[in-house]
This record gives sequence, C-alpha cells and structure tokens, in this order.
Amino acid sequence: MDKLKALVVDDEASVCEAVKAILEIEGLDVVTTTSSADGVEKVKKSVFDLIVSDLKMPGMDGIQFYDKVREIESDSVFIIITAFGTIPSAVDAIKKGVYDYIPKPFTPDEVRIPIRRALEKKRLEQENLALRTQIETRYSFQSIIGNSPEIREVFRVMRHAASSESTVLVTGESGTGKELVARAIHSNSVRARRRFVTVNCGAIPDGLIESELFGHVKGAFTGAIADKKGLAEEADKGTLFLDEIGELATPLQVKLLRLLQEGEFLRIGDTQPRRVNVRVVAATNRDLKKCIVDKTFREDLYYRLNVIPIELPPLRRRAEDIPLLVNHFLEKHKGKAEEKQLTGIAKEAMQALMNYHYPGNIRELENSVEYAIAFTAGPVILREDLPKYTLEEKKLSGEAQKIPLMPLKDAKYQFERSLIMAALIESGGNISEAARILRIHRQNLQQKIRLLDIDLSSVSPV
Ligand SMILES: Nc1ncnc2c1ncn2[C@@H]1O[C@H](COP(=O)(O)OP(=O)(O)OP(=O)(O)O)[C@@H](O)[C@H]1O
Ligand SMILES: [Mg+2]
Repeated sequence: MDKLKALVVDDEASVCEAVKAILEIEGLDVVTTTSSADGVEKVKKSVFDLIVSDLKMPGMDGIQFYDKVREIESDSVFIIITAFGTIPSAVDAIKKGVYDYIPKPFTPDEVRIPIRRALEKKRLEQENLALRTQIETRYSFQSIIGNSPEIREVFRVMRHAASSESTVLVTGESGTGKELVARAIHSNSVRARRRFVTVNCGAIPDGLIESELFGHVKGAFTGAIADKKGLAEEADKGTLFLDEIGELATPLQVKLLRLLQEGEFLRIGDTQPRRVNVRVVAATNRDLKKCIVDKTFREDLYYRLNVIPIELPPLRRRAEDIPLLVNHFLEKHKGKAEEKQLTGIAKEAMQALMNYHYPGNIRELENSVEYAIAFTAGPVILREDLPKYTLEEKKLSGEAQKIPLMPLKDAKYQFERSLIMAALIESGGNISEAARILRIHRQNLQQKIRLLDIDLSSVSPV
C-alpha cells in the first residue's frame, strides 16, 4: 500500500520539523511549509490524507486555510495546532469540521494520539466505502441483462476493460446501454470507490464546455469571479465518462488529446499545466470513422480513445434477449401498478415484442413495457396492452418482400459468400482478422474460401 501523505503548515519552522519527525515515525510521508498560502498551492497540486496546521499564522490563519482547503478537496483529515489561550477558537474550528486540535507546546504523545485516532477513522471510512462498492459492483454487472452471443461478447470485453486502465470507446445506437456499460466498467475497476464523472459533450454549449471540462482561473473571462475546478479534476483518481464524444468541438479535441497523452491540461486563463489521473471512457452513437473523413473528428484522438472498443449491438440483432429484458422490466416496474397484481405477459404479446425492430433499442423496449403496465387491466399483459406502433411493425415483412424466391440451399450459399467477402474486404484481405470478425476459426474460414470459390485477390487492397 502507498504511504499516507501529510502536510504540515506552521509559520515556525521548528514546529514544522518537530511535527514532521513525529509523523514520520508513524510511517507518513511528510511535506512542510511555513506559509499558509503556499500550503494552498500544495493542496492544489497533490492529495494529502492528513493536514496539520497552526491556528495563528500571519496572512491566512488556520481557519481561513481550512476553508480554502475544503474548496479544493474534502477527503483529508484536518488537525489544528493551537497555543494555550486560543483553545476556544480551536473549538469553533471543530464545529466547522476540523477533526481535532493539538495544544501547543506539545509532547510527542499529544501529537501522536489524535493523529492515530484520525487516521484510524479515515481507514474505517475507506473500508466502509470499499464494502459498499463491493455490493454495488455485484449489482452493477447483474443490471445488464442479456444472454445472446452478442451480449456475452460485450461482457467478455467489459471484464477485460474493468481490469485494465486503458481508454474505452463504447459505440452503439441510441438506447443500447452505452452509459450502463460505462458505469459497470467503472464500478468493477480499481477506481470503483472514486468518482464516476459524466460530461455530456453534446449537451453543453461549445462556449462553456472547456471551462466545464478543465475549469478556469479567476478573471479568465467576464463572469469568472473565482477559480473553478473542471470536471476532469473532479474525476481525479476516478473515471471520466465523456458521453457523445462525437459532438466535441475540434479545438477541444486537441486539449483532450493532451490530457490523454500526458495527463496534463490547463484551466482557462492559467499558464501552469495541472496533472490529473483519470481513466477515460467515451461513448458515441456516431460513426467516428466517418467523422474522421468529414474532418469533424481528429484521427489521432480516435486512436487514443479506441484502445478498448466496445460495440453494443442494436436490440433487433439480438432478439433472443428480448424475453429476458421484458421480464426484467416487468419486475422493475410492476410495483407502479400493485393493484393489478401482475403475474406475467401473454405469449402473443411477447411474440409481438420480439418481432418489433426497436429503433430506440432497450430504452424503447423498457418504455413499451412501462406503457403496457399502465394500460393493462391485469393480471396478465395482453397483446392489445402494448403501444400500437409495436404491433403494426412486422419486423421481417418489408425485408422479406425484397428477397427473390430460390432454393434455400442456394440462398444460404449466396448469403454466406457475400458475408465472407464483406468480412475480407473489411479486413483488407487478412484472413485471421476476417475470421475474428465472423467469429469462426481461421482454418474454418480458409476451408470456406475454397469451397465458396472466393478469389482473395478480388478482396485485397491493391
Ligand atoms: N442490457 C441491458 N439490461 C438492462 N437494462 C438496459 C440494458 N441496456 C440498456 N438498459 C437500459 O436502457 C436505458 C438506456 O440505456 P443507456 O442510457 O445506457 O443507453 P445509451 O446507449 O447511453 O443511450 P443514448 O445514446 O440515447 O444516450 C437505461 O434505462 C438502461 O438502464
Ligand atoms: Mg447515453
């Protein structure tokens, strides 16, 4: 485990040294300063578990210093050193949230004991947090429903993503569960007990997003009346979720790239770069490759983000998950109509739900189930309780009419051949890669290429 870090602030250097010596024996890493203003700078730049500060200091006194620190962070344990005679103000300080005070002059024990107590309290708090996280963790993987090969592949990549620190890019149509997946990765990662901070790049106007993301310093622009931390800093040691990343303006893409590559950024109006330690998960329902061609998305940023790609399949491609999801949403929402004593859903209604094509994906399915719960007389949801549009659409009818009639065997041959050609074109003629796309073995693919008489030179790039 890392050593705990402490900051000692006292205008008398000898007091700093005395406290430092005691804390070092206790196993802490100690930084000292004789100026409270410098103390504030130090707190901005690194994370301290414990801060010990004198009460009476020239310039910013101990209480003002405490207030400043709390504007920056709220995790450290703060202890005040106070000379005899100023104990009443120390008591006031405790009412404000200072953890304890040490009288001055002090014996080593008078420093050691409150500090041990404080650190023990912090350790317990963290254990509680970890315990809570474990419970949430178990819950969060369960909250993603599905058993189709497509979703199981997603789970596999998610597990890999959760145990790694690499950037993740989650793509998929609207309502396919991108945010749910991003949260689950966070709460199954080592960062779980730190924050998951969402930035919706599409919802924040261009003019505000930089300050929102990276913060600003006082006076940076009209209205910047005080220093402000950005969301990237809020997410320090945690996960920064950049939703709708495809909407991010290009100048900010450059700044984000710097954050990803160097862990550095500037608050607006600041000259001193700051460092944060964040894990980035980004999501989009856009085709970023197309955005690169259109020059609205930077290619270098794309590759930085797309280290672990997770593509969420649209619901219509994994209809076998629909019954599981329907039952899940029935359980989730049936409490809203307790008087109906719902027991389940009729076969025809389930069939109708399975046949619909869900442009709004899982969100739309959930809405349909909620709708049915509201409209059914109960205790069983019937076909006519479903929203009308889910019934009118017959998933295959449009598509089916376009297909010329032929023996099934020929149709299978044609389809398999076109599919394999498409995969080979996508992989630039690389057989292993095409086999991975098709999720079959390389040898199996080679055999099929021979049997289906596919000319590899027709699919390889020139
Ligand atoms: N596999 C799943 N199991 C259970 N619920 C799911 C699943 N996928 C998505 N949901 C639910 O569907 C809704 C939409 O999911 P989410 O907000 O994560 O989608 P999204 O891809 O971020 O959508 P958008 O692109 O519109 O922002 C949420 O209520 C979520 O809980
Ligand atoms: Mg979303």
